Amino acid sequence: MPDSLQRLAQRFPPDFLWGVATSSFQIEGAAQKDGKGASIWDRFCRQPGAIADGSHGDMACDHYHRLEQDLDLIASLGVDCYRFSISWPRVQPLGQGAWNPAGLDFYDRLIDGLSRRGIRAFATLNHWDLPQALQDEGGWGSRDTVHSFVNYARGIQARFGDRLAGLTTHNEPWVMATLGHEQGLFAPGLKCRRLAMQVSHHLLLSHGLALQALRADGAREPLGIVLNISPCEPATDSPEDRAAARLADGQGRRWYTDPLFKGVYPEDVWADLGPDAPLVQPGDLAAIAQPLDYLGVNYYTRSLVSASGQPVNVKAAGRPVTAMDWEIYPPGLTHLLLQLKADYPGLPPVYITENGGAFADAVDADGTVHDHDRLDYLRHHIAAVADARDRGVPMAGYMVWSLMDNFEWASGYAKRFGIVHVDYQTLARTPKASARWWQAFLRECRARR
Ligand code: NOJ
Repeated sequence: MPDSLQRLAQRFPPDFLWGVATSSFQIEGAAQKDGKGASIWDRFCRQPGAIADGSHGDMACDHYHRLEQDLDLIASLGVDCYRFSISWPRVQPLGQGAWNPAGLDFYDRLIDGLSRRGIRAFATLNHWDLPQALQDEGGWGSRDTVHSFVNYARGIQARFGDRLAGLTTHNEPWVMATLGHEQGLFAPGLKCRRLAMQVSHHLLLSHGLALQALRADGAREPLGIVLNISPCEPATDSPEDRAAARLADGQGRRWYTDPLFKGVYPEDVWADLGPDAPLVQPGDLAAIAQPLDYLGVNYYTRSLVSASGQPVNVKAAGRPVTAMDWEIYPPGLTHLLLQLKADYPGLPPVYITENGGAFADAVDADGTVHDHDRLDYLRHHIAAVADARDRGVPMAGYMVWSLMDNFEWASGYAKRFGIVHVDYQTLARTPKASARWWQAFLRECRARR
């Protein structure tokens, strides 16, 4: 039996932080407004066939123009914190050099608006929308981008750092490296494994150098990074499938967590890469392994891995899936958290920085969405976080993906993750049943403080 609202709330300490999350490109729109530069996603969306519904982020949820209304919406949920990202090309259109006052002003208003409403701000520096001007110079494949990122991070901290509850360097480096540079499914749409691995190294290096620089500048806000982690389980018990699952776990998870927490790349993955292994300069790994104030984990599903390399059809096996065809598997969240704790004894506080589901929402005539599937998804995963906490994982908070329906990357607007529905004709926001449930749950949590 799933926990009742009260019982679920009781499983968390009073200082546990609850929030909702978004990212700049997915909600802001105003793609060419007030001096913003182009990002690689602005460019990628124009490639025929890149986005399932042919859409782009020019308007998205028009959050840029609806800031006050959206801040009220966030506050109405009763959250403790809001996770958003800063669009690098909005604040520094070319990715280096001149800053854009109007772009900086937008984030001033966002952060001050949160603070006025008593909501803590968790900012991410890079949620994928790299300035196109930097891509033209080689993007994350170039070591110069690492240094541009460090300067960008320093500029953001100087302006906003004292008002942030957390500053994250990168969101999901695996996705940027592998989907963007090896599989070509995401911006910048390149297909070269050697390049993808170099990108992954540059992302990690820029993270470490940024943390060093921010601390040298006197950072007082907690600093961290956000990783997407799907626990990899063998499709069968065969030794071949188990070995394949171990390697997949290495490629998706340990490739990032080992350098961050141990200052080394995992040997098995390195050996498997052969000539595609990245160029690593002396001192890089020590720079990457900076102490983290927190680790952010984005969890959606597990991966079932077979030695044949064929994806396992979980639907055929009768497992429930979301509209993304991702298996709904809450225990995977507990497993991955326990695995992190086992692998890295000094694990810092962990936030679930994203968790949620896309479902085929039906909208009633009055605009209501009775998304009980999403609501069930959330409460089972929150219980899975409580299970990990009970077993000693240092959990600090949980944020729902997402505040509202938005641009779901290569899937366009067809896949809806929001607890608030967005009508893309009128841009009206209507809380779904899951948002009402979230409000009631957060009321319970607050009542216990
Ligand atoms: C992770 C990404 O950070 C976010 O941008 C995306 O929308 C969700 N996953 C859902 O796919």
